[in-house]
Amino acid sequence: MKEIKTISAIKEEVKEIKDKGKTIGFVPTMGFLHEGHRSLIKKAKESCEYVVVSIFVNPTQFGPQEDYEIYPRDLDRDLKICEEDGVDLVFTPLVKEMYPKGYNTFLNIEKITDVLCGAKRPGHFRGVATVVAKFLNIVKPNVAFFGEKDYQQLIVIKRMVEDLNMDIDIIGCPIIREDDGLAKSSRNKYLDEEQRKAATILYDTLQKGEKLIRDNIYSIPDIKESLKKHMATKSILEIDYVEILNANTLEPPKSLDEKLVIALAAKIGETRLIDNCIIGG
Ligand code: PAF
Repeated sequence: MKEIKTISAIKEEVKEIKDKGKTIGFVPTMGFLHEGHRSLIKKAKESCEYVVVSIFVNPTQFGPQEDYEIYPRDLDRDLKICEEDGVDLVFTPLVKEMYPKGYNTFLNIEKITDVLCGAKRPGHFRGVATVVAKFLNIVKPNVAFFGEKDYQQLIVIKRMVEDLNMDIDIIGCPIIREDDGLAKSSRNKYLDEEQRKAATILYDTLQKGEKLIRDNIYSIPDIKESLKKHMATKSILEIDYVEILNANTLEPPKSLDEKLVIALAAKIGETRLIDNCIIGG
């Protein structure tokens, strides 16, 4: 396995691989790898001949009051995991490599970023879309893999790739959960024992929501209200949003028969957690 830090070196490597006619699978990450990331790497290995992982905590997708500085980092451990999982190349650029002096270009994906995390974290998807577009231009993968846990991110990236005519398949991979249902996330590390216990309410709420939708008795506003009340039973938790939207457009659905996403975000202490599930379609 190779570790490369510069864009010029990675471009050379990618050119060699392409010249050999190999397909490239790409898994962008912010490191502190867990089972969720490993499932993306596994998918990439299954469908591509050469797998590139990027590890880069992207400053432009964090708000000024967010956790950029303290975001968990452990490059040595991440590199071991990548090696174990058969990754061919790990790209670990420094911030000044990705955003050199004079850097001025950012991508704005409209409308679908006005809701959910886009509404609560202004500028977040501008940073995500920008860094992902840069990575896609640098790595030139045939396929790129994203977790469905960041569901809005997946929709935003699919939109961007389609709108900008990038010839890359974007594959969403299922959420990987702990035994008690909590979605795997690098941020789970921040939770103390009591917070960790309370965090299971997210998955619990999704399951309740899924049942209410499948029962097809209550209206969407009623279901949302009921889910908010359910989440509020854990007083340690501060609800950020509870939404039920059309899973493709992220617009309010007209009926329960559409493909829907139930999306939740909550703060437990200083830790912001998100989760979702897809129903129907
Ligand atoms: O999902 C993430 O870890 C990040 O948002 C991504 C896609 C690597 C961009 O920084």
